[in-house]
Amino acid sequence: MSSSVTVQQSQILERILSLEIVRVTERAAVSSARLRGRGDEKAADQAAVDAMRRELNKLPIHGTVVIGEGERDEAPMLFIGEEVGNRNGPKVDIAVDPLEGTTLCAKNMPGSIATMAMAEGGTLLHAPDSYMEKIAIGPGFAKGLIDLDVSPEENIYNLAKAKGVKPHEITALILDRPRHAAMIAAVRATGASVALITDGDVAGVIHTAQADLTGIDIYMGIGGAPEGVLAAAALRCIGGQMQCRLVLDTEEKRARAAKMGVKDPRKKYAIEDMVRGDCLFAATGVTDGNLLRGVKFRKDVIETETVVMRSVTGTVRVIRAEHRELSKFHLD
Ligand code: FBP
Repeated sequence: MSSSVTVQQSQILERILSLEIVRVTERAAVSSARLRGRGDEKAADQAAVDAMRRELNKLPIHGTVVIGEGERDEAPMLFIGEEVGNRNGPKVDIAVDPLEGTTLCAKNMPGSIATMAMAEGGTLLHAPDSYMEKIAIGPGFAKGLIDLDVSPEENIYNLAKAKGVKPHEITALILDRPRHAAMIAAVRATGASVALITDGDVAGVIHTAQADLTGIDIYMGIGGAPEGVLAAAALRCIGGQMQCRLVLDTEEKRARAAKMGVKDPRKKYAIEDMVRGDCLFAATGVTDGNLLRGVKFRKDVIETETVVMRSVTGTVRVIRAEHRELSKFHLD
């Protein structure tokens, strides 16, 4: 088989998979949405994990989970290293967060999503389940405009200058955590506005890619590393810049990361370091949010809203689905 045929086939397959992965996040979202507001984060997460795994195993892929629920001993399903898919297709790396914003779902608050990314085998960063410093902006700026190693003030001033606006016209999205108190104060000191979120920084980063619609110019702060890789996959599809660095502040964390292939614990990762090849990204709303509507349980119909992106073309599809074969959703 010539290599051009192989490339063509893999692109066709990838086009098909971009719709297939919608089913995966849809099912995970519906399963966890049934547990919205029950105050049980674990049950909602487990429901999403079970559904996502069931659907992933139907896909024509030979997949390996590289960003998952944790390592095998702490995660019975979708653990890092788990093989998924029917083994009848291309080798792919999978990143999953079956329920991103477990607390949001358990409290029935806005912004929880079911999300995953898929990339060519061996191209996604194998990140440990640690924290990660992150900074992200949307597309259209000179490379290197944002940097984790300059102060928050400087990042705001540089962004404002590049946009041709005053700092007070900039809005930074930051997770509302005590660890960010100094950063929040520094950003406010420039005159910029701070939008705080209680959880959900995958969507937070994605918001920067449509600053004109979302009003979010920059994301900054420390969040989960798995969420960082998922957000990087989304920005790889729609454009933008992101810089991340793992927070490996103990010997044990550094050793775990080293086992996963992290050679330099202080490395600053750009999007291309976290997602080194073509990828797909999908997210379905669990609760209503700024990015997506949540699952609606209507009489005889379940409605979902999903965003799915492809890096090859930069296409973003928002798929509003009405599901009538309710037996498929294990609703009993
Ligand atoms: P979970 O769904 O695992 O609870 O993650 C939600 C989240 O807010 C992420 O979006 C974010 O990256 C991370 O938690 C921040 O971690 P922490 O809550 O420990 O500050």
